[in-house]
Amino acid sequence: FVHQLADESVGLDDLLRSPLYASPAPALPLPAALYGPGRRNSDGVDLTVDAMRQPLLDALARTTVPSMPMTDPAEVAAAVARAHAAFASWSQWPVERRAAILSTAADSMQARLPHLCALLVKEAFKTWGDAVAEVREAIDFLRYYALHAVQLMEPVLLPGPTGESNELRLEGRGPWVCISPWNFPLAIFTGQVAAALATGNTVLAKPAEQTPAIAREAVAILHAAGVPHDALQLLHGTGETVGAALVQAPGIAGVVFTGSTEVARLIARTLVTKDGPIAPLIAETGGINAMVVDSTALPEQVADAVVQSAFRSAGQRCSALRLLCVHEGIADAVVEMVAGAARELVCGDPGRLATDVGPVIDADAFANLGRHLERLRRTARPLFAADVPAGAPPHIVPPQLIEVQAIADVDQEVFGPVLHVVRWSGDPLAVIDQVNALGYGLTLGIQTRIDSRAQAMAQRARVGNVYVNRNMIGAVVGVQPFGGEGLSGTGPKAGGPHYLLRFCAERTLTINT
Ligand code: SER
Repeated sequence: FVHQLADESVGLDDLLRSPLYASPAPALPLPAALYGPGRRNSDGVDLTVDAMRQPLLDALARTTVPSMPMTDPAEVAAAVARAHAAFASWSQWPVERRAAILSTAADSMQARLPHLCALLVKEAFKTWGDAVAEVREAIDFLRYYALHAVQLMEPVLLPGPTGESNELRLEGRGPWVCISPWNFPLAIFTGQVAAALATGNTVLAKPAEQTPAIAREAVAILHAAGVPHDALQLLHGTGETVGAALVQAPGIAGVVFTGSTEVARLIARTLVTKDGPIAPLIAETGGINAMVVDSTALPEQVADAVVQSAFRSAGQRCSALRLLCVHEGIADAVVEMVAGAARELVCGDPGRLATDVGPVIDADAFANLGRHLERLRRTARPLFAADVPAGAPPHIVPPQLIEVQAIADVDQEVFGPVLHVVRWSGDPLAVIDQVNALGYGLTLGIQTRIDSRAQAMAQRARVGNVYVNRNMIGAVVGVQPFGGEGLSGTGPKAGGPHYLLRFCAERTLTINT
């Protein structure tokens, strides 16, 4: 046979315009995260806390958190074998059918929003606002990945200069281990699972041991929507037992993990040193996230953004603000305004609608924060701490500001409502360099009224998500892809147009025609 010479009519431009390389964002309807009065979804549903007030209160009154038995690590091998067997058929279902199931699950979550919120309040101590936002984010992940998988997994014809027929196909890789955290026990759990399932993989899901009940609810919804039971299995246990057994299991196709940098390293080491194929790791870990405020910033805007970013969710977001770097010229005014706004926060029982800041997740988290503050007390200067009313539930850490001498003094992520403040003067790019030197790279806030400076600072920063003149939490699925680099993760952006590719095997079929 004779290969044809290059066909001038098929060039790089054509390839780049093909659906795979163009990575188009799917046409997502308005994300549920943005529903609200005047911004309802196509069913006319308003899922704001105000609109849902009575159903939420009713659900809270009737919801209890069921206890769940832990999986015996000895059962992991059989679960992996079942996931392999299920992969043979699930991966062959048309992607549209898998997507339809995920969309049904999204509808079902929307219909069950009050109950899911009640579980989030009772099991993870979410405030009502955070709980509603989290269910909406889970719905968005389901709808976005469903839509995107259909678009992405369309085989791509590459009629290149060889004269043969070339086709690039994306397929599932096999059973994925999804290990999710307690801080977004529904949204991140659902996002990981939906991404793996949409692309034809089967899933072994291990939620954080603190929050198995909400994960079980999500799995029940997905099973009821049509995911075969062996294609999605829930394994409840600690990281040291069930998590370790899953990661060590021969034949798993990949691991997606959200949690600490230390555990991500452990998983990575295990994956490369065990026998068999090298499974990829998608890791989203922590951050020492900074907001850099220059002397032109609007203090009122800064104060609002800081309070949201540092204290909402009791600071238990990986995106949360930990380090406020404020120009010395406006530092006193900004600190006073932040303290004034933080004083208005209501700390207390997350089951009450008025509560802004609930307890941290457990006694260990509370003790860790206490130890951190004790260490800092020798070198740092407390600026403000909110009141915790008498009779509040245990493990509430008051939102607080504490001044440190230098950016490098904050050398570890502290997961709670503790905001470190540092003053700076001189070149704002030098501040970005010092933040980069911490080694994390998740979120960065910039507050300035000089556009060119904002651009230069954003350009210099080595972080996954930069937010200018606003808060730095609550990335919206499909429009603000989320994920970090360096010590903050392996890079893939959840809720973005490239994420699903990481779950796929790419196979090229060349036929000599
Ligand atoms: N995705 C969350 C946020 O953007 C953090 O995990 O706040």
